[in-house]
Amino acid sequence: MLKTEIEYDYILSALGRRLRPNAIRKLTKLLGSKEVISLAAGAPSFETFPLEELAEISARVIRERGQSALQYGPTKGQGALVEAVSGILQSRGILDSKPAQIVMTTGSQQGLDLIARVILEPGDVALVELPSYIGGIIALHNAGAEMIGVRQDDGGIVISDLKEKIDRVRSEGRRLKCIYTIPNFQNPSGVTLEAERRNELVDIADEHDLLIIEDDAYFDLYFTEDASRLVPLAALRPDRVVYLGTFSKVLAPGLRTAWLRAPEELAEKVELAKEGADISSSMLDQAIVIEAIREGLIERRLPELRAFYKIRCRAMLDALGRFAPAGSRWTEPIGGFFILMELAAEADATAMLPEAIDGGVAYVPGQPFFVDGSGANTLRLAYSKESPETIGDGIQRMCRVFQNAKAQSKA
Ligand SMILES: Cc1ncc(COP(=O)(O)O)c(C=O)c1O
Repeated sequence: MLKTEIEYDYILSALGRRLRPNAIRKLTKLLGSKEVISLAAGAPSFETFPLEELAEISARVIRERGQSALQYGPTKGQGALVEAVSGILQSRGILDSKPAQIVMTTGSQQGLDLIARVILEPGDVALVELPSYIGGIIALHNAGAEMIGVRQDDGGIVISDLKEKIDRVRSEGRRLKCIYTIPNFQNPSGVTLEAERRNELVDIADEHDLLIIEDDAYFDLYFTEDASRLVPLAALRPDRVVYLGTFSKVLAPGLRTAWLRAPEELAEKVELAKEGADISSSMLDQAIVIEAIREGLIERRLPELRAFYKIRCRAMLDALGRFAPAGSRWTEPIGGFFILMELAAEADATAMLPEAIDGGVAYVPGQPFFVDGSGANTLRLAYSKESPETIGDGIQRMCRVFQNAKAQSKA
């Protein structure tokens, strides 16, 4: 029988055609079955998952409240959880947080996707940090946004560059809608936005009527006293900021429980978009998170989590100090999971990755995080997955590859 090849291209929407694979997920294929030290994986360590407690809570929730926990639920989220999130927001200084402004989402990733779809039209411009979180870039891209990068230095977004980019976009007559920012312990750079620049940023957003999408996935995972007092942009301008938080990093990402807080009108639109996406987030996951909050499981473990990641961060910084090639530099995070390393200008982190993997270590090349295509000489290093000793070994192996490449390029 003749096999007919069916063409599907004609059937794709503009979005269908726009969709492209995540550059980081492609890396997993490169790793194959190799046993390598992974400084690439940006997930929380499974060692931090409170398995026994969650097993007990899950069994109890199903036994005692299974009829509602296994049912469909309200699109905006379980009432008790929305109330609890309102309390969390108050404790972060976002005082004016009513349940009507909150939508529970299936991970912050869904929040990013929904808000992008609700506010952006193909051709609209969104400003993003250079570099920025891949998942945020994907959500904005899928919504059709054109992204313009704003430079960061060790204090976060460079305000003069922000102003310049806004002026340029405006003078070209393009419609600038929003700025997507991760002010605390950014993924992928580990950089934190300075207090003064937070005020400047919200003033500029006021002046140019921009919406700020503030992704605060790592808020609780700080390493210093100063970092414990960081003020969210949403606390400064609640009516101009869509604020995203998540339980992924402090409990477990598999529970896919997160929230979005927005001015009421926008929250309503997000809720309507969510209804079409998944009716509601998992009621079982939400019920487990509610119990974890009620029992103080999350709050109680935060000091341990901070110490856990701080030690790993220190191990990576120490190893970089010992082994990094001359001419390279790296960020010094005060929280979160990531360090961004910058090699000499001519280095190519993507080209050196296969050799690093052969040498037993993986990292993520930085370029996909830069929407302007720069960053070829940068890489993201995650200290969340491996033990402090293994991190030291991994950095040593990686830096050996970098040193060799440098020696060869000179030869
Ligand atoms: C900055 C940032 N935002 C959002 C997310 C997604 O988190 P969630 O598990 O809540 O979808 C991540 C996960 O890596 C992240 O790093």
